[in-house]
Amino acid sequence: MKTQTITTVSTKGGTGKTTVNTLIAETLAAEGKRVLLIDLDPNLTMTQTFNLVMANNTSKDLISGITVQPYSITNKLDFIPADLDLSFLANIMDTQLKNCLQKGGYIGNYDYIIIDPPGHWCSLSRNAIFACQKMIVTGNCSKIDFYATSKFMQTLQNCCLDVDLSVVVNQFKTKLNEPEALEMYQNAFADYLYKEPIPQCVTLKKITSQPDLILPARIKNKLIDFVHEMSITEEAE
Ligand SMILES: Nc1ncnc2c1ncn2[C@@H]1O[C@H](COP(=O)(O)OP(=O)(O)OP(=O)(O)O)[C@@H](O)[C@H]1O
Ligand SMILES: [Mg+2]
Repeated sequence: MKTQTITTVSTKGGTGKTTVNTLIAETLAAEGKRVLLIDLDPNLTMTQTFNLVMANNTSKDLISGITVQPYSITNKLDFIPADLDLSFLANIMDTQLKNCLQKGGYIGNYDYIIIDPPGHWCSLSRNAIFACQKMIVTGNCSKIDFYATSKFMQTLQNCCLDVDLSVVVNQFKTKLNEPEALEMYQNAFADYLYKEPIPQCVTLKKITSQPDLILPARIKNKLIDFVHEMSITEEAE
């Protein structure tokens, strides 16, 4: 089985990384793809929404070279929770997660592996970046987020990565959105920008608890379009 590894990243907090990573994982799993979702963020947001705080078999074990048994969320979606101690991992190489996914047999066993990194430039976010073939950079619709995204894109370009890169504007903070910021994103990232900003849709807690029941069809279809427009599904075939 050919596995595609995807991550949504940013070097600013609260840009919707965990939301987008979870939505992509759940949308693909609902379409019958086998998906492994990995929380690599010691802030435990995703782990908490799946009620797996303090669980065994964590991404800290995984990145330390231990083969872990993922938790089954649905029959198509597996999950590896994070551990607070991830913050204290010292001396890990930026390619360690990539190597462990390969050696542990996770690559080849799933259609997709989705990694949720912390919201700053550190060895854990770099491990997510170096393990992926597709990277989605999220930024909120404010000037400060635009500047943070520009700086991050510059850093990524300096890394000469061989990845498929997209930028997505998240417009969920309706009160804080700045129309000029959207224009700045459009001008700076014309080659990378996903055509539609993400609207206010649904909170993480709702996505992880009952995705099919709670999402109205209009929003669900928008999200499925989002995943398809990102060409995620086509590329794995
Ligand atoms: N499009 C959206 N619609 C509604 N709520 C959203 C949307 N995007 C993000 N949120 C909410 O905003 C908060 C922050 O989102 P999220 O946790 O996905 O960001 P993050 O980038 O992963 O943050 P962190 O850097 O802390 O990991 C969450 O409460 C989430 O439910
Ligand atoms: Mg997060």
